[in-house]
Amino acid sequence: MPATIVIGLQWGDEGKGKMVDHLAENVDAVARFSGGANAGHTVEVDGRRIALHQLPSGLLRPDVLGIIGSACVLDPVALTEEIESIEKEGFSIADRLTISGKVHLVHPAGRYIENINEIRLGKAAVGTTGRGIGPTYVRKFMRKGIRLEDAAVPEIFLEKSAVITDDCIEQLALSAELAGSLREEVDLFNRESIRLVDNAMDVSMVISRILTSEGSILAEGAQGSLLDPDHGTYPFVTCGSCVSGAACVSLGIGPVMIDEVVGVVKAYSTRVGNGPFPTELTGSLGERIREQGNEYGATTGRPRRCGWFDAVLANYTARLNGCTWTTITLLDVLSGIPELKICKKYELDPEIDRALFETGVRLGKHIPVYETLPGWEEDIRGEREWDALPENARNYVLFIEKLTGVQVKAISTGPAREDLIWRK
Ligand code: IMP
Repeated sequence: MPATIVIGLQWGDEGKGKMVDHLAENVDAVARFSGGANAGHTVEVDGRRIALHQLPSGLLRPDVLGIIGSACVLDPVALTEEIESIEKEGFSIADRLTISGKVHLVHPAGRYIENINEIRLGKAAVGTTGRGIGPTYVRKFMRKGIRLEDAAVPEIFLEKSAVITDDCIEQLALSAELAGSLREEVDLFNRESIRLVDNAMDVSMVISRILTSEGSILAEGAQGSLLDPDHGTYPFVTCGSCVSGAACVSLGIGPVMIDEVVGVVKAYSTRVGNGPFPTELTGSLGERIREQGNEYGATTGRPRRCGWFDAVLANYTARLNGCTWTTITLLDVLSGIPELKICKKYELDPEIDRALFETGVRLGKHIPVYETLPGWEEDIRGEREWDALPENARNYVLFIEKLTGVQVKAISTGPAREDLIWRK
């Protein structure tokens, strides 16, 4: 698999980290191509749960090179903390990490601006992760951003950083106390940014060398396609592109280099933050899934909203990404639920145009039409054989495969690396 993309087909948290970790066993490099410290990918290795935020999940495999692409937004202070905490667990990270010099840095001012904006929005708030993602992308596209390569010339970098700090203090009319805290954070940001220049390189060149010498790379998306600013549930989306096409843009490779696109879906749906969610379960069943699936954000600890599998949306996102196959995660969480529902189509509000297929706020007006399938009682956690799954579990997977229109090749049945079924 010379160049493979792994992408989430729902609202993030689909378990991409585990799949990337699994697939990374046989690749030369793993590259993150979007998002930043808003992401949370959990991987379980030898009974230890390790949460990654900005680093590619495949870096937990020894000898794999880690790459951070230019369309990510990088928080240098949080990255240094993440590297230190993972190195404490016995993994070498810093010497295997290459970061695009073109990556935009999350300046501390971005978090101040974001938090105040969210408070001002009140009920209309997006419910962001508070990591300064939106304001960093705004600066980037206003052509006023600050990039890692800028830190290669410290005098100019410090000047740029000071302008961003002063702008923020003025724009938000920060009190002397808050302005003082921001300046302290900026000092640390400046130091860490300058230090990280040692890891900066032309990522496109690094990847091109790997691929032309018959090596292989795995490109790892962050968040999920329904949080994509173009194709997702706008405005309740993140700001970095979350679809497979973004991998080429961020890593500087042409689309013809991509061999496979692996879509990852949960066996049910979850979403953190606000925005439409047609199959949401607000009662005790939603709570049961939340508890069984430990559905709390890996970055913010927020409880995730839970609901039935939405095959209309999964079919849509599989198409957006050009998935060549999919993997279903967390199937074990559904054990013991007597009846399971899958949304197979929407009963459309007469005002909504089917051909347009709006994914904005009006998506929430759709009424899901469900197929009810019998559940299974058996605990399937850790199961590794397709034939050993209860018949109802297999039928559930096959029904998702039929409606999504893409072959389900792998099924995850637990958090450990080995808890995976490969279908022949
Ligand atoms: P932001 O990315 O912090 O700007 O947040 C925008 C929206 O995306 C919010 O609804 C977040 O909860 C959601 N979001 C951002 N990152 C993730 C993630 O890694 N998993 C799930 N939701 C996310």
